[in-house]
Amino acid sequence: MDNLFSATNLSKTFQLRKRSRGLGSHRFVKAVDGISFDVKLGETFGIVGESGCGKTTTARLIMQLEKATGGQMLFKDTDMTNLNSRATKKMRRHVQMIFQDPYTALNPVKTIFYLVAEPLKIHKVYKNKNELMEKVRETLNAVGLPSTDDLLAKRPDALSGGERQRVGIAKALVLDPEFVVADEPVSMLDASVRAEIVNLMLKLKAQRDLTYVFITHEFDVAYAICDRVAIMYAGSIIELGNTEDIIHDPLHPYTRLLLDAVPPLRPDKNWGNNIAKGEVAYYIAQPSGCKYQLRCDKRTDACSGDTPVLIEKSPGHYVACHLD
Ligand SMILES: Nc1ncnc2c1ncn2[C@@H]1O[C@H](COP(=O)(O)OP(=O)(O)OP(=O)(O)O)[C@@H](O)[C@H]1O
Ligand SMILES: [Mg+2]
Repeated sequence: MDNLFSATNLSKTFQLRKRSRGLGSHRFVKAVDGISFDVKLGETFGIVGESGCGKTTTARLIMQLEKATGGQMLFKDTDMTNLNSRATKKMRRHVQMIFQDPYTALNPVKTIFYLVAEPLKIHKVYKNKNELMEKVRETLNAVGLPSTDDLLAKRPDALSGGERQRVGIAKALVLDPEFVVADEPVSMLDASVRAEIVNLMLKLKAQRDLTYVFITHEFDVAYAICDRVAIMYAGSIIELGNTEDIIHDPLHPYTRLLLDAVPPLRPDKNWGNNIAKGEVAYYIAQPSGCKYQLRCDKRTDACSGDTPVLIEKSPGHYVACHLD
């Protein structure tokens, strides 16, 4: 299968402001620290990891909402690293994002019609008002919302969380993109609604030939929707492979910890707070060698030597660990 997108050695270092310097002389955060991955045409590629590991920064780099400080991104073999604003606008026709929080992602003073029509207006891809209205109604129907005048005139706060996220999805899909980056699109929703939204995203993917990057911190959600997943730890990908292989045969001690923290396939369980076993990841002063060594109960002397790189252990299953 062809790659739709690839990142090579992608990095983002944030320089901290002076007032957040109480952390010694280290004034930089390597939010994304040289990650490489391909997204195949038509797949759902998951990025999984605990809070602060760099998931949102990765999404924002893909969307050109942040400038990369290193590495390269290709979309259909075209370089899309640090595009100028004109090229970014052109790229947005094809690459769209669904945000985590449907309560803050939608401007509360605008109507549903305005919010879903806005991308069409920005890109001027309609011939007349009828066509604009038709496209908005059609997209609302596609995400399972009624396209009544009543709904079009409502504001986001008149909708439930699940309905708002459907509007967020409509807004992302109204331009008929090929590639959609979803940053924890169900983590703010009630358990019952989460399954509905995951199923809707699966249906839309099949209907519209979409390719997804799907970010989550929950393996049960990843299991439901992702073909392959990358596990991130402190800005690095430490394991990557088919979702089945990762869940049934995790190779990295950190992946095992994440999976041990909660049995997979329990859609109702919120385990985000249960995984902080061991020391908090060192984002500021990284030890040399493996970043996970300070939390790892299997560490050896080798772990403070070279930084482990991803190695293919079985077809398509990669791990960055000195132990395996
Ligand atoms: N604009 C910024 N300035 C400085 N540091 C930042 C900035 N954005 C993110 N960071 C830092 O980069 C690291 C990665 O953050 P990021 O938001 O990408 O993590 P995440 O995996 O999405 O976490 P969460 O699960 O909580 O959403 C964190 O240490 C964060 O504090
Ligand atoms: Mg995030």
